[in-house]
Amino acid sequence: MEIAARVQNLTKTYGTGQAEIKALDDVSLDIRAGQFTSVMGPSGSGKSTLMHCCAALDKADSGRVLIGDQELSAMKDKELTRLRRDQIGFVFQSFNLVPTLTAGENIALPLAIAGRKPEIEWYDAVIATVDLANRLSHKPSELSGGQQQRVAVARALVSRPSIVFADEPTGNLDSQSGAEVLNLLRRCVDDHGQTIVMVTHDPVAAAYTDRVVFLADGRVVDEVADPDREQIIEIMSRMSAAVDEAAC
Ligand SMILES: Nc1ncnc2c1ncn2[C@@H]1O[C@H](COP(=O)(O)OP(=O)(O)OP(=O)(O)O)[C@@H](O)[C@H]1O
Ligand SMILES: [Mg+2]
Repeated sequence: MEIAARVQNLTKTYGTGQAEIKALDDVSLDIRAGQFTSVMGPSGSGKSTLMHCCAALDKADSGRVLIGDQELSAMKDKELTRLRRDQIGFVFQSFNLVPTLTAGENIALPLAIAGRKPEIEWYDAVIATVDLANRLSHKPSELSGGQQQRVAVARALVSRPSIVFADEPTGNLDSQSGAEVLNLLRRCVDDHGQTIVMVTHDPVAAAYTDRVVFLADGRVVDEVADPDREQIIEIMSRMSAAVDEAAC
């Protein structure tokens, strides 16, 4: 099976001395191409740090991240900028749309920055997938939360990245808008072979994915393939029981 991203022995520490926190503690993980993977774990377990290090938005202290066959730590800043622009899509919990631009302009922005014209067929497919054709001239403030996040997903997809990272993309949405976004991400994987890695706290959201990886204290502690909601809840409660035991 093709590997879209590979994390090997990744470690990242914040602070020093008493205040030292190991956000990532020897994390190794393969992300399979064309799969929808979710990352779960308690608050502070290192999920965002892992996403940021994988997406070249942050640097680890040691270990390696490969996107395809490119190793991030071996790349110069300019090369990393190009990699982020051309091969990586990122969806933030807080949407991060430009408020003064329309939905259509927001979606086209990464290509405009790269000086590239959209591939019309792909652009149309993305717009059809996110189901926003009649909202393209609206500003973000004129869209619902779910619609704004669908714009953000379209923006992440339009440059045809080899991998999309999404950090709690449904964290700020009600359950119906969340379902819109999760269905969209699922369709991107099923219909277009997109590779997606999504952080979530929600067992319902994780059940949309092909594989759940569990982090605790900066380490991978469990994983489950083709999960259903009940399995995920069971692993989460096992993890919190282990934390309670350790605290006693
Ligand atoms: N810039 C920073 N400076 C210092 N500590 C940080 C920084 N960023 C993260 N941390 C710490 O690293 C650990 C992991 O943080 P991270 O944001 O990756 O967790 P998370 O799993 O995404 O949590 P959440 O579910 O709350 O978003 C936490 O203990 C956090 O306090
Ligand atoms: Mg986080």
